[in-house]
Amino acid sequence: MGEEAEPQIGHRVFTFAGGTGEEKAELQVTVPEVLNSQYGMYVWPCAVVLGQYLWFYRKQLAGRTILEIGAGVSLPGVVAAKCGAQVILSDCAEMPQCLENCRRSCEKNNVFGVPVIGLTWGEISPDLLDLPPIDIILGADVFYEPKDFEDILVTVRFLLEKAPQAQFWTTYQVRSADWSIDGLLYKWNLKCNNVPLNTFNADKECLAGSDLPGRHTVQMFVITLDA
Ligand SMILES: C[S@@+](CC[C@H](N)C(=O)[O-])C[C@H]1O[C@@H](n2cnc3c(N)ncnc32)[C@H](O)[C@@H]1O
Repeated sequence: MGEEAEPQIGHRVFTFAGGTGEEKAELQVTVPEVLNSQYGMYVWPCAVVLGQYLWFYRKQLAGRTILEIGAGVSLPGVVAAKCGAQVILSDCAEMPQCLENCRRSCEKNNVFGVPVIGLTWGEISPDLLDLPPIDIILGADVFYEPKDFEDILVTVRFLLEKAPQAQFWTTYQVRSADWSIDGLLYKWNLKCNNVPLNTFNADKECLAGSDLPGRHTVQMFVITLDA
């Protein structure tokens, strides 16, 4: 058996900007992507929309405990950490190369002290049980395989039960009109608010100085317990 080739890394820069006068602010995030590789290794259109949502509401993030699930290259998690949140990044426990991506993104952006853990959707694992109460769960393009939809909501529901005021902020790329999470939300006693993109300046084809989300239709949802 030959040695595994070193991954070929490319970099994409995202510049989030907003505000006027003294409120004017800008954040640059550099994301290392593994070229020619699987889906957890580069930035998806949903990630930049969720990054924009976090940036728009950045004043609400300082001191909040935020967990990103299915983080891949972790653009939203890094934005949240840069805005002062206590961030924990996670990806599938069986995909160590994705966890390595999370670490690489933190290093590239000088974000230190961010735990990176393996969390496989639907598994009530020791790492999931050990988490502190989470204020905000992030998930960019996690609903991309219908077979995983319920597992994702099981994980989210578990975390929301531990912290009933918490919210799941997730961006969804519309791939098929036949896919829906409505029945599962009802089953797991969750409710979903669809946040129009224009309310957080994300109704554009190019965000944060990138060519994403492009022509993809992306929706922003805030999911909470249905009291
Ligand atoms: C479409 S990618 C999105 C990556 C990143 N959030 C983004 O938007 O750029 C889906 C992510 O979910 C992760 N994933 C896939 N199956 C998973 C599972 N069963 N449990 C946890 N994470 C999983 C993948 O490793 C990948 O990082």
